[in-house]
Amino acid sequence: MSPAPTQTSSKTSILHRTPWSPPVAVSAEGVYIDLEDGRRIIDAVGGAAVACIGNGHPVVKKAIKDQVDTVAYVYNMQLSNQPAEELARYLVNTGKGAFELCSFVSGGSEAMETVIKLARQYFYEIGQTQRINFIGRELSFHGNTLATLSLAYHPARRAPYIDLLNTERFHHVSPAYAKRFQRPDETEEQYVERLRKQLEDKFLELGPDTVIGCESRYFRRPPIIDAMVMIFVVVAETVVGATTGVVPPPKGYFKAMKSVCDKYGALFILDEVMSGMGRLGTLHAWETYGDGVTPDLQAVAKGLGGGYVSIGAVLMSKRVADGIRDQAGFMKHGHTYQAHPIACAASLAVQNVVTSENLLENARTQGAYLSSLLSSRLRSPTSPLAPFVFDVRGSGAWWAVEFDFDTPSPDKPSVDFKGGNFGTLVQAKCLDNGLVIMGFHGGANVEGTKGDHTMFSPAYNVTKEQVEEIVDRFVKSAEEVLSKALV
Ligand SMILES: Cc1ncc(COP(=O)(O)O)c(C=O)c1O
Repeated sequence: MSPAPTQTSSKTSILHRTPWSPPVAVSAEGVYIDLEDGRRIIDAVGGAAVACIGNGHPVVKKAIKDQVDTVAYVYNMQLSNQPAEELARYLVNTGKGAFELCSFVSGGSEAMETVIKLARQYFYEIGQTQRINFIGRELSFHGNTLATLSLAYHPARRAPYIDLLNTERFHHVSPAYAKRFQRPDETEEQYVERLRKQLEDKFLELGPDTVIGCESRYFRRPPIIDAMVMIFVVVAETVVGATTGVVPPPKGYFKAMKSVCDKYGALFILDEVMSGMGRLGTLHAWETYGDGVTPDLQAVAKGLGGGYVSIGAVLMSKRVADGIRDQAGFMKHGHTYQAHPIACAASLAVQNVVTSENLLENARTQGAYLSSLLSSRLRSPTSPLAPFVFDVRGSGAWWAVEFDFDTPSPDKPSVDFKGGNFGTLVQAKCLDNGLVIMGFHGGANVEGTKGDHTMFSPAYNVTKEQVEEIVDRFVKSAEEVLSKALV
């Protein structure tokens, strides 16, 4: 792993998610965070694409305090509450007609786990119990629970748990990542058609096998069609997040995928945990990249509560809502803290701030500026990084730079990261230089062993000056890592 950045001043009793003890934050305002050691750092990635309006917004602080004074907690199987009802109405009303019902959870993995169970409940309620298969995609991430790890395909995150994952029900097709996987002799249209055909072939391959096994063992009913597709394509796949680094689909991809789902009666499901709730400069990522297609089920999380609270939501189309309402009429899944009044009140306030301060427009404007600065600085003929820049891509307030140190080329000097990798080394160096970004390794091949990318997802209210500060600190850090690795 990469070397430890700044250590905590005192011994920690937390089992951290990093091989080092992360520095301790003591206060935060907007995109700035003050650390225990006295340093002030700038957060260019909103934590993990979460803090979409930064820290300490007075409107959200007030909403949380007011809610604590009003109703702090009620249990969702006994009582509903006003902020939850209002937030659900907001999400349905702003969904451009795509959604009919909503349910709350406490984060992204719970939202995707709920999507899996809700999809199954839908087919169970309508009597298509032979539908038991999920199709996800390689190089994707849907959460860290066992079912979401099975559904997605993130080699590094699956590795320790591989023997616990369900490979009988969860299947995978290729990623939609043109810059890496479209063949040189293919047009974009032909690439999309190849992916569409691969999905359809997967349906056909799974169909008879799965249905026969399931049908004879459990249901003893003639199968109709046995494949249920989960395609989390818009941020989980309309734009793939951390795994490959803000990778949008080729044009026409979602339309093609949906056409296969429609043909076989499967559900079309989008994971917008990272890409949704404004991150791309539109409320939903499918508004930017969906080819006019809307999902049957969708998960959102991070930007919903903006980091002020722990919350996620599942949005249901009329098809799914009707299927469940007409039968059981309620969700056969849930958690103690779902629809928490404080979480919902804070999320409503976050959404009000995004709307009243016109932050989606600012996200688009400052995001475009960020990308132009990244491109011009990193690709300038005088930049030592230029030969290694593979792609600068993104939309709204969500951008990534992908580097390529693996493919040999005469203009690339030799480098040796001494057992580390550029992505994580740059993340650590940025932190030393007072900047939070995310750096990753392994998004360039299906095995997850090649490619380095860095991700930027600042608050939607980031300013022009802050964007310049982010790019300065990032370029300096990346150059420092590179200069140490040159051989
Ligand atoms: C696309 C996607 N789905 C699901 C998750 C899981 O969300 P959480 O970490 O809130 O459980 C993430 C987290 O990064 C994500 O990016």
